[in-house]
Formats: sequence, structure tokens, C-alpha cells
Amino acid sequence: MPTRQTDIAVTVVYEEREHVLRTYTHEYRSLMALIYDKLYMVNFGDCKGIGRCGTCHVRLPEYAEETLLVRSGNEPNTLGKITGVLPTSRLSCHIPIDERLHGLRVEIMQDEEPGLY
Ligand code: FES
Repeated sequence: MPTRQTDIAVTVVYEEREHVLRTYTHEYRSLMALIYDKLYMVNFGDCKGIGRCGTCHVRLPEYAEETLLVRSGNEPNTLGKITGVLPTSRLSCHIPIDERLHGLRVEIMQDEEPGLY
């Protein structure tokens, strides 16, 4: 039985400008892939989602669902190597596109020295 698709609108803040990105459940494999596709950013998502570069660092709002704030895989290690990390920081390549993102305001955090490899 196919899973139900939900329309999702997430506001992404990049260089002090807000962009409302519209998608639906699992259209992209991650929030990083959605942002990369829609905003054409330089130095973003450099490792294409394997969690090593840290260039897809985002800050979620404190009101985000608690499960969205749980870091997974190599996120703690990678986030530990970059600057500006906050308790609500995540690697957007580790965030799936699902209904928990709907209505959130997500801020892209650019490290001064992107690309950890
Ligand atoms: S794309 Fe490299 S850590 Fe997310």
C-alpha cells in the first residue's frame, strides 16, 4: 500500500532572505537535497549527503518536533568539527522530507571554513 503524500512548505533563511520551499513527503531524499535543488547554493551539500563535509548545517527552530532535533549517524562527530553549532543544529542531509518540516523556519548556517573532508 503506497504511503500518503503530504504537501509541505518549509521556510529556509539564507543570507537573511526567506525562501518558502514547497515539496511533498519524500519527494527528495533529504532537506539538503531540497535546498540544493531549489536554491542553487555554492558550497552547500558538498559531500552529497554522506555526513562528512558539514556544509549542509542548518539550525531548526526550538519549537520543532523533538524527534527532528535528534542527531543521527555521524552528525555529532561532523557538527563537533564546525563553528556556530547550537543545540538545534542538524545536518540537513540527515533530515528526511516529511510532515514534521511543514511550517518550520530553517536557517542555513554557513561555516567560515566549509568542507571538512
Ligand atoms: S551534505 Fe555533507 S554533511 Fe551533509
